[in-house]
Amino acid sequence: MAEGEGKWGCTGDEQIIPPEIDTTNPSIARVYDYFLDGKDNFAVDRQVAEMALRIVPDAKDAGKANRRFLRRVVRYLAAEEGIRQFIDLGSGLPTQGNVHQIAQEIDPAAQVVYVDNDPIVLVHGRALLATNGSTTVIQADVRDPEAIYADPALRGRIDFSKPIGLLLFSILHHLNDEEDPWGIAERLREPLPSGSFIAMSNFFNAQDEHPEASKQAVMVEKLFNENLGTGRWRTREEIMRYLGDMELVEPGLVPLADWRPDAGESWEKSATYYTYAGCVARKP
Ligand SMILES: C[S@@+](CC[C@H](N)C(=O)[O-])C[C@H]1O[C@@H](n2cnc3c(N)ncnc32)[C@H](O)[C@@H]1O
Repeated sequence: MAEGEGKWGCTGDEQIIPPEIDTTNPSIARVYDYFLDGKDNFAVDRQVAEMALRIVPDAKDAGKANRRFLRRVVRYLAAEEGIRQFIDLGSGLPTQGNVHQIAQEIDPAAQVVYVDNDPIVLVHGRALLATNGSTTVIQADVRDPEAIYADPALRGRIDFSKPIGLLLFSILHHLNDEEDPWGIAERLREPLPSGSFIAMSNFFNAQDEHPEASKQAVMVEKLFNENLGTGRWRTREEIMRYLGDMELVEPGLVPLADWRPDAGESWEKSATYYTYAGCVARKP
C-alpha cells in the first residue's frame, strides 16, 4: 500500500476490498471521512465531496468543527454530568478523538456502543476496538430504534436503569421528512432513563437569524440530495422538536463552535458557520 493510503488504498483498484463495501456509489460515512482528511474513501466519494467544496470551500472546517464539538460534549457529559455509558448513533468511521477515547480518559470503565448502518464502519471499528473491552460497534439502522436498543451487544454494555448519553451527531439530517425523523427521535428518547442526555449536531437552516447563510444551506441541500440522496438543513423549530420535553443545557442550540468553546478555539464566522448547529439536552 502506498504511503498515505487507507486500509484498502484509496484508489481501490488493486486492493482487496471486502465484498460488502460498495465502491460504485458514494457513502455518507466515506464522503464525511474525506472532509476530515481521512483516507478511507474512494473516487466516487471524493467526487461528491469536491462538488460540495466548490460551493462551500470551508466544508472541511465544518466537519472538523463538528468533531471538536463532539469532543467537548463527551468530555462535558463524562466529567461534569457523570455519564458513564454512551450510545453513538451514526458514529462514522474511526477518526481522531473518538467517543470511547474521550470518555475512557475520564473513566476507563466507561461503556461505549457505536452504531452505524454502513458496513465500512463495522469493519474499521472492529479492527480499532479489538483490544478494548468496554467498547463495541454494531451495524444497525437509526430508523429502527427498537432493534438498536434490543441488540444483545448493546444490552450487554448499556444499563437502562442508569443515565445514558445518546449521541446523535450529524445523523438525523440524513433522514428525509418522509422517514419521520421526529417519530424516530421520540422512539429513541422515550426508553432513556431520567437524567440521560441527548447531544446532537445538525445541518441548520438559520432562516430567521442569518438569511444569507440560509441561502447557502438551500443550495448545498440541493447538491447533496442530487448526488448523495440525503441531507436536510432543518430550522431551529424542526430541530427542537427532536427533543420533546427535554431541557436544553446552556447555551442551547447554537453554531457548533459557540457551544462551550475551549480557550483558543476559533472558526471564522462564514455562512457555513451558521449552517451547522448543536445542542445538549437533559431528560427530566
Ligand atoms: C456525517 S457522518 C457523522 C459521523 C459522526 N457521528 C460525526 O458526527 O462525526 C453520518 C454517519 O451516519 C451514518 N448513517 C447514515 N444513515 C444512517 C442510518 N439510517 N442508520 C445508521 N447510520 C446511518 C453514516 O453511515 C455515517 O457514518
